Amino acid sequence: MAKFLVEGQRTLGGTVSINGAKNSALKLMVAALLGQGTFRLENVPDITDVKTMAGVLQALGADVCFNSGRMELTVSSVEGQTPEALVKSMRASVQVMGPLLARLGWARVAKPGGCNIGNRPLDIHLSGFEQMGATIEVEDDMYVARAPRLHGADITFRYPSVGATENIMMAATMAKGRTVIRNAAREPEIIDIQEFLNLMGAKVKGAGTSVITIDGVADLGAANFSVIPDRIEAGTYLLAFLITGGSGTIENVIPEHIVPLLHLVSAMGAELEVEERAVHVGSPPKLKPFQVSTAPYPGFPTDLQPQITTLATQAFGRSRLVEEVFDRRFGYTRELLKLGARIEVSKRAVFVEGPTKLRGAQLSAGDLRAGAALVLGALAAEGNSVVCGVEHIDRGYEAMEMRLQSLGAHVERTEE
Ligand code: UD1
Repeated sequence: MAKFLVEGQRTLGGTVSINGAKNSALKLMVAALLGQGTFRLENVPDITDVKTMAGVLQALGADVCFNSGRMELTVSSVEGQTPEALVKSMRASVQVMGPLLARLGWARVAKPGGCNIGNRPLDIHLSGFEQMGATIEVEDDMYVARAPRLHGADITFRYPSVGATENIMMAATMAKGRTVIRNAAREPEIIDIQEFLNLMGAKVKGAGTSVITIDGVADLGAANFSVIPDRIEAGTYLLAFLITGGSGTIENVIPEHIVPLLHLVSAMGAELEVEERAVHVGSPPKLKPFQVSTAPYPGFPTDLQPQITTLATQAFGRSRLVEEVFDRRFGYTRELLKLGARIEVSKRAVFVEGPTKLRGAQLSAGDLRAGAALVLGALAAEGNSVVCGVEHIDRGYEAMEMRLQSLGAHVERTEE
């Protein structure tokens, strides 16, 4: 079990370069299961979720070689039974269902385990597969999907689920005829997957809008691709500068992907200078409070909710945040109270009174973004903090302690 020891109140400064997006890399890896041959991915983050997904792909018959941000994946024949332990350890592994169903006509995928941020049902994925002609049964806690050949369908999602959009998009690439997904998610990572699938020979258009159209083809080949920068990692470091009263540069970011965050921190008083692939941020003498709700892209991302709430502890006044995407994503606020934060939580909303002089404490991360938020809190706090549960942070942030050290923070990793 790893912990971070944080000595707070160091003003951060300097430049941080952003890695490839976790939520794109994982899905590109999965999309390779649809093809044939050797794929080369660049700008792949060195995080445990990527390694877990590599384990899933290997168990399904792919060869994976991963070194310094480059991944080579070789796919020839593929199995349809996913390893239960790996699926349970990472929810994104349910994304193999679409490709396996398209390629093999069947898939057995363990039901993903519980999650710390909400219920996370899979009904939108499963109903999409059914509309394409699949039958889904639950056997021994596994989803078993069967469809000798999927056919195209006109599918309207009841909610723009990111994972379901990607899963149905991938399944439809080799289905008979045309599939249309309406009320599709519009996240930038979905555009990445569309481009990748098209390089493999698929016919997908519309990603980035709420209607995606896929014309099925007989088979798919291999492709090379570079993953887009991680907008959530970029946002987290931007907030790290602000919470310590610092200033610095976020490099290798696509500013267009973090517009809602840039608007919000600008309204809070942050000084911003935006270039094509970089953002310079400076702290104002006093941060203003805010009101915001999370929403699917292009709204304010739920994956930055814990981090921005933590920044609110340093704003002058009362902030209010409403979580509209997940139904249980305020667990980390109990930990922020240990630092002395003044926070009230009602069902979907959190209210923060600031500014508060935070004091170091022993904290426990319950999930990935909660972990990032607790590190931000510890960076702002007077004295020393311990953040336990760093394995959650390692799922999605490559060497976070080293990047923070390079910006002047005092953060050390200890292993027990
Ligand atoms: C993805 C991201 C995650 C991000 C989330 C929302 C990955 C690996 N993860 O997760 O970091 O927080 O998008 O931006 O890409 N829902 C249903 N039924 C379904 C599917 C989803 O009710 O069949 C609900 C979920 O419970 C949740 C909401 O829809 O409340 C959003 O989920 P979804 O967009 O599917 O998120 P993920 O793809 O799981």
